[in-house]
Amino acid sequence: MIDKERLQLLRHDYRGAPLQREMLSDNPLEQFHVWFEEALKADVDEPNSMTLSTVDSSGSPSARVVLLKEVSHNGFVFFTNYGSRKGRDLVHNPNASLLFFWHELFRQVIIKGRAEKISREESEAYFRTRPQEACIGAWASQQSEKIENREELLSRYKMYQEKFAGGPVPLPDTWGGFRVYPDSMEFWQGRESRLHDRFIYEREGDSWKISMLSP
Ligand SMILES: Cc1cc2nc3c(=O)[nH]c(=O)nc-3n(C[C@H](O)[C@H](O)[C@H](O)COP(=O)(O)O)c2cc1C
Repeated sequence: MIDKERLQLLRHDYRGAPLQREMLSDNPLEQFHVWFEEALKADVDEPNSMTLSTVDSSGSPSARVVLLKEVSHNGFVFFTNYGSRKGRDLVHNPNASLLFFWHELFRQVIIKGRAEKISREESEAYFRTRPQEACIGAWASQQSEKIENREELLSRYKMYQEKFAGGPVPLPDTWGGFRVYPDSMEFWQGRESRLHDRFIYEREGDSWKISMLSP
């Protein structure tokens, strides 16, 4: 086991620049845009990776990292296997949370909202941009199912490679995007002495209410 003294010595003093109410955009998606550009400028590694949390039919939560592939005023889009654990969770219960952690900037963004499948046309448009191997991988992997060994996966991969040899790989019915429509978005800026700056946007009809939260 990892020695608890070693863990307790792992301390980081977050020294981000202040985040103040007057700096915030009225719209959280615009604010996200500003922070995302800053994350790119700061060379944050994979700033579009985010932790997606879902809840299953018995109320049990689970989380995993997925990649943000589109963001607009409507919300946040990621792609996955609809038959995966997260896919099944979201069909049963669309409530979802997305979390971005940009360590280099001492920043965290937490989004809560409802997830809906995007149209097949939108999923197809993205699928066509993926490398051939990734498209074949989408056919080969019955994501989240138990498998005996890696050979099983590789033999499914080979089977689809031969099936689609020389032609375009069609979009599997079980694969596509979800869009998370946000109801709340929190912007967290790490500050010294653990006195972090936190602001939460909550949807109120067509507009957003902004409140400051205690760290
Ligand atoms: C950096 C990173 C990016 C990932 N991107 C995706 C993604 O965009 N879509 C996806 O389905 N899985 C992605 N994964 C794999 C998921 O974390 C997860 O293992 C998989 O989707 C199965 O999750 P589930 O069984 O909870 O449904 C990514 C993992 C990492 C570490």
